[in-house]
Amino acid sequence: MPKDAKLEIFDLEGIPPFNQDLEDRMPQKVKEFKAKIKAADALLIATPEYNCSVPGVLKNAIDWASRPYDDNSFEGKPVAIMSASPGMLGGARAQHNLRQVLVALNMHAINRPEVIVASVDEKIDEKGDLTDEETRERIRQLLESLVDWTERLKKE
Ligand SMILES: Cc1cc2nc3c(=O)[nH]c(=O)nc-3n(C[C@H](O)[C@H](O)[C@H](O)COP(=O)(O)O)c2cc1C
Repeated sequence: MPKDAKLEIFDLEGIPPFNQDLEDRMPQKVKEFKAKIKAADALLIATPEYNCSVPGVLKNAIDWASRPYDDNSFEGKPVAIMSASPGMLGGARAQHNLRQVLVALNMHAINRPEVIVASVDEKIDEKGDLTDEETRERIRQLLESLVDWTERLKKE
């Protein structure tokens, strides 16, 4: 992480399937998710790719936090995305689909550097730590860009 920036990870486990009938009495886990997003200066979305697209678990969580209509938690937030896959395309198609969703959420996504980690199983050790130095450097650059972008947006 860049100096003076802090990363907080939110586990999507426990977010139920979206149900619009519950929009006015949202599940506790969704309330927590919405509060965390609102409190954050910026978001970093890290995702795998499922069937050439955004995993349903991620899309479901996004749909919850975008509601109710006049309380989209993502409104105007800066965001960066990254993906990883054991496959050769590294989740590039999920990223492409995700970008369309970010437009609907009125988020301000950064375009570069792209962090698309292909053959990820060869780049992590048994503990799950990323060992590939080139990928680590790209992630560093992505996070620096996100912090710069967030500061620029705050000034406007
Ligand atoms: C339902 C399902 C669909 C998948 N579809 C794709 C895919 O379209 N492209 C791809 O690169 N990997 C695909 N995968 C493999 C995932 O990328 C891989 O399981 C994921 O990177 C594992 O991530 P994790 O170790 O962080 O859980 C799929 C996996 C599942 C379970």
